[in-house]
Amino acid sequence: MKRTLGVCYYPEHWPEPQWVDDAARMAALGLTWVRIGEFAWSRMEPVEGTYDWGWLDRAIGVLGSAGLKVVLGTPTATPPRWMLTKHPDMLALDRNGKPRGFGSRRHYCFSHRPYRAECAKIVTAMAERYGQNPHVAAWQTDNEYACHDTTLSYSPAATAAFRDWLAQRYQSPQALNRAWGNVFWSMDYDSFDDIALPNLTVTEANPAHVMAHRRFASDEVVSFNRLQTDILRKHSPYPISHNYMGQITDFDHFATGADLDIAAWDAYPLGFLSDRLHATPEHRRRFVRQGDPDFQAFHHDLYRAVGRGRWWIMEQQPGPVNWAPWNADPLPGMARLWAWEAFAHGAEAVCYFRWRQAPFAQEQMHAGLLRPDSAPAPAFDEAAQVARELAAMPDVANAPADAALIFDYASAWAWETQPQGRDFSYFRLVFEAYRALRALGLNIDILPPDTADLSAYKLVLAPGIATLSAPLLAALAAHKGTALLGPRTNSKTAEFATPVPLPPNLPGLNAVVARVESLPPDVPVPLANGGNFLHWREKLEGSATVVEATTDGWPALIRAGGLHYLAGWPDAPTFQRIVNTLCAAQDIATDPLPEGLRRRDSATHHFYFNYNSVEVDWDGQIIPPAGVYWRAKG
Ligand code: GAL
Repeated sequence: MKRTLGVCYYPEHWPEPQWVDDAARMAALGLTWVRIGEFAWSRMEPVEGTYDWGWLDRAIGVLGSAGLKVVLGTPTATPPRWMLTKHPDMLALDRNGKPRGFGSRRHYCFSHRPYRAECAKIVTAMAERYGQNPHVAAWQTDNEYACHDTTLSYSPAATAAFRDWLAQRYQSPQALNRAWGNVFWSMDYDSFDDIALPNLTVTEANPAHVMAHRRFASDEVVSFNRLQTDILRKHSPYPISHNYMGQITDFDHFATGADLDIAAWDAYPLGFLSDRLHATPEHRRRFVRQGDPDFQAFHHDLYRAVGRGRWWIMEQQPGPVNWAPWNADPLPGMARLWAWEAFAHGAEAVCYFRWRQAPFAQEQMHAGLLRPDSAPAPAFDEAAQVARELAAMPDVANAPADAALIFDYASAWAWETQPQGRDFSYFRLVFEAYRALRALGLNIDILPPDTADLSAYKLVLAPGIATLSAPLLAALAAHKGTALLGPRTNSKTAEFATPVPLPPNLPGLNAVVARVESLPPDVPVPLANGGNFLHWREKLEGSATVVEATTDGWPALIRAGGLHYLAGWPDAPTFQRIVNTLCAAQDIATDPLPEGLRRRDSATHHFYFNYNSVEVDWDGQIIPPAGVYWRAKG
C-alpha cells in the first residue's frame, strides 16, 4: 500500500482566487489528501433549507483538478446560529445544569432528537451531492467527538433518552433497583420517569447509576455517528472516517469504530505533553519541544485496533498550537519524525493541520504549514522531505507484534466513578504498561476488551480491567503464553457491584483480594526484589505461587502457570523489570532502549526515533536530535 500525506484546508476562510495557487502548492509539495468542510455549515446552508453548494463545488473542483483527493467532513460539530433559534433546547447542559452556549463549537447535545434530524438532513444533502464526486475519496463524520468535554450532557433531552435507555436495559424499575442496590439509602424507584441524571446529588450518586449513565452517553455517541454513516453508505462508496483524539476515553471508540472504515486521530504531541500527560516536571522539560516518546505510538497502536487495521492521522501538529497551557515550538525535525513514526505503526495517511495559519478568530496563534502571509513555515520543508522519502521508500507493512495490551473504555469509566484513591487513572495505568513494553523495544498490538483469541501473542498485558468479558476470560483460559493481569481485575460486576466469589476469580488462579489500600504518591510500598508499588496495592490470600512480595510480606506478583496477577501499581522501573522477566520466560527478544529513543519494526525494517534534544549513539549509528533512522532487517 502506498502511504500518503495530506493537509486540512478551509477554502471558506480564503478568497476564492487564492484556491488555485493553494491547490497547486499542495500538489507540488507532494500531498495527496486535503480534508475540507467539517466546520462550514453556515456557508453550506446559510438560511434554513437554502443550500449554497456553489462554492463547495468549485473548491472540490479546484482541488481535484490539481490532482488532490478530498476528504469531505460533515459539518455537524458546528451548527449555525439559526439552528439555535429554531431549537433553543438543543444545547448541551454541563453537570451544574448550565447551558454550553453558542459562539465556539460542539454546543449540541447528542441526545437532542430534533438536532439529529437536522444532522440527517445536511448529511443526506451532502451525500447526495458529493457521494459519487470523482474528486472526493473519503468522508469524515463530525469532528472530534468528546472534544471540549462534550460527551456528557445533563439536558432534558438527555434525561428523556436516558430513561428510555434504562427501560430497555432493565425492563422494570424493580429490576433496576435490584441491579443498582437502591435499597441502600432508600434510593428505590417506582417508575423510570422518576430517574434523573446522576448530577446535582447531595453527595456522590450511586456508582451503578453513574456507570449506567456513562454507558448510555457512550451509546448516544455511537448512535449519533451511525445515523451519519448509514446515510453516507447509502449514497457513496467512499470509506468513512472519524478523527478521534489523544487520551480521550469518554465513549467506546471500538463501538463507533465498528461503523467506520478508518479510525483517524489528531496528534498534537506538544499540546498533549503540556496539558494532558501525567509526568514529572523534569520529563516535561526534557521533551518540551519533542513530545512524550510513547504517547503518540500508544495512540497509533490503539487506533490501529479501533480501525481494525485501517487508520490515519487526520491532524498532525506542524508547529506551536494555541490551546495548551504552554505552546512550545517543535524542534526542527519533529514534524518529520512524528509523520514517520505514524507510518512505521501502519498509518495509511498523515495530514497536517492546517495548510495556512488563520489570521482571524480563535486559532490565530496555531501554526500551519504556511504562515498567515503564505510564506512557508518550518514544517513545510519537513513535509516535503517526508513526501520525497515516502516515494523512495518500500512499503511499511506491519510486522507481527511481540506483545498484546488490552484496552477497555468501560474500565476508564469504572475507575473514574470509584477511584478509591485520587491517583487511580485507568488510562495512566495502561499507558505505563505500554511504556514498560516499549522501553524494551517491543512491537505492541492493542486489543479490544472482547478479544476472543490471544493465540498470536506470547505475552498479553491486561491491567486494571474492571469486568472481564466472557470472550476474554475464555481466551485467557486457553492462552498458552504469559499473561499479566491486575490490579483491580474483575473487581466489579457489569452492574458495578462487588462480585462474590471475590476478585480476581481467574481460571486456575487460587487467590482472592482480601483488602485494598490506596496511598498518596509520596508513600511508596517497597518490593523485596527492588522497586515500589505506588498509589495502590491489594492484599491477596490463597495458594497461588508467590513470585514477588512487598517488604512487609504481602504477595505482590502471583501466578498459576502462565497467568500472572499483579497486586499493585508498579513504578516505571519495576514495571519494566517485571515485564522483562516475563519476556525472558517466553524467549521474547528485548532491546532495552536509552531514554527518549524508541523503536518500531515493520515487516521489512527497523525504525528508530530519537525524541531527545541530543544525539544518541545506537545500533552503530549516530542518530541526531529529533532524528529518524531506519535500516532493512536481516
Ligand atoms: C483539534 C480540532 C481542530 C483544531 C485543532 C487545533 O482538536 O479538531 O479543528 O481546533 O484541534 O489544534
